[in-house]
Amino acid sequence: MDTAVIILAAGKGTRMISSRPKVLHEVGNFPLISHCIKTAQSIDPKKILIVLGHGQSEIKKVLGNEVNSIDFAIQEKQLGTGHAVGVATNELADFDGNLIVLFGDTPFISAKTMTKIENECKQADLVVLGFHPQDPTGYGRLVTKNKELLRIVEHKDANDEELAITLCNSGVMAGSAVLIKKLLKELDRNNKNNEIYLTDCIELAKTEGLRSTYLTCDPTEALGINSPQQLAYAEKRFQQTARNVALNNGIHLVAPETVFFSFDTNLGQDTVIEPNVIFGPGVTIGTGCKVKAFSYLEGCKISNDCNIGPFARIRPGVDLSKGVKIGNFVEIKNAKVAEHSKINHLSYIGDAEIGQNTNIGAGTITCNYDGFNKHKTVIGEDVFIGSNTMLVAPVNIGNNAMTGSGSVITKDVAAQDLAIARSDQSNKKGGAKKLKAVLSRKKNPKAK
Ligand code: UD1
Ligand code: CA
Repeated sequence: MDTAVIILAAGKGTRMISSRPKVLHEVGNFPLISHCIKTAQSIDPKKILIVLGHGQSEIKKVLGNEVNSIDFAIQEKQLGTGHAVGVATNELADFDGNLIVLFGDTPFISAKTMTKIENECKQADLVVLGFHPQDPTGYGRLVTKNKELLRIVEHKDANDEELAITLCNSGVMAGSAVLIKKLLKELDRNNKNNEIYLTDCIELAKTEGLRSTYLTCDPTEALGINSPQQLAYAEKRFQQTARNVALNNGIHLVAPETVFFSFDTNLGQDTVIEPNVIFGPGVTIGTGCKVKAFSYLEGCKISNDCNIGPFARIRPGVDLSKGVKIGNFVEIKNAKVAEHSKINHLSYIGDAEIGQNTNIGAGTITCNYDGFNKHKTVIGEDVFIGSNTMLVAPVNIGNNAMTGSGSVITKDVAAQDLAIARSDQSNKKGGAKKLKAVLSRKKNPKAK
């Protein structure tokens, strides 16, 4: 049977205390809604439909082209989760397969759990995913008898006996589209929030002689994010999982709890990560590399056996070939560096291409920006750039060329040439002694 996934993301997210739509807050540098889309895509459903309302244009903009195969339904007024699913099913008039409802603020549901839910739909009329959270406050409670789910009661509406239940609602609900459409029409707003609750479908189904059941998952999977505190907790759990995955893949994290990953960080075996390293989005690193302490990397591709840091900043668009060395206090952006070249100390390299076996001296800067446009620096193979060279782009340095320390290079340098662009030195005989005497008298005129 076909499955369609509905993702609810219209809510205001008042408890986030933020002007940003809740589902655009990020975990692992990836919006909550994008995590959910990934979850939905894992079962390759017939359709994915996202219900938007609050902040809809902002959300659509962030999702951009990533979601060509996704449809949106607009919930003008956020009257509750049941109402939101109703808005979605209006767009699914002819669909008679199964529906799985996900919440846009619940980012960690796994592909494995999705498949289990899909299968469980064959056994019961409605299926709910439950879990035992560390702290059940705020979650709906599952009232069960044996394996049957009788009803769900929201925290706000629960009595003391119900509040003592530790089995909670993750928000994931599944069942036949025809049945859910029918039940939604019968829901009321008889609750403390005066909202149309999706969760009320369960009790309603029971009164109509239908059977609901539940599955359970790991509490981390079902984390719902309503507040900044819960967002921070979700990030913590995400990082713990990412560190374990890295360790299990033979990445050596010297102090795992100090390394921070993004959703798409990709590291090769036998790579060593020293303490306090941060991976922004889009980092791929090969095998046998070393990333030394206090480095920040994002949007870069690093081949095998490279050495990075300590205190290196690798910005988007960097592509390092095998055996490249980037040392301390080096910032590099949008630059391609060929095999075994070195940029070891205190440099800024931006919008550049560097050939193999080239050495960039300490304090070198590619002056890539004239205040209006960015320009490119191209440096050949086996080049030696002297310390404190300013390479005023656009500029080309040929193979085997050299620049003298402190040069401001504004013209191309041909292969094999040495460029020196600094004023000549003149030494004054005994000048230091004379100058010191003048300065000393100035400071203390009375002294003999
Ligand atoms: C909901 C569940 C609760 C469950 C918890 C799990 C209901 C009534 N309650 O509570 O049982 O334990 O999630 O995290 O379902 N939304 C809309 N339109 C609306 C209202 C909500 O799209 O009119 C979306 C929100 O954007 C959000 C999701 O639905 O992504 C859940 O809504 P939220 O208000 O966060 O529900 P909870 O109070 O967390
Ligand atoms: Ca929620």
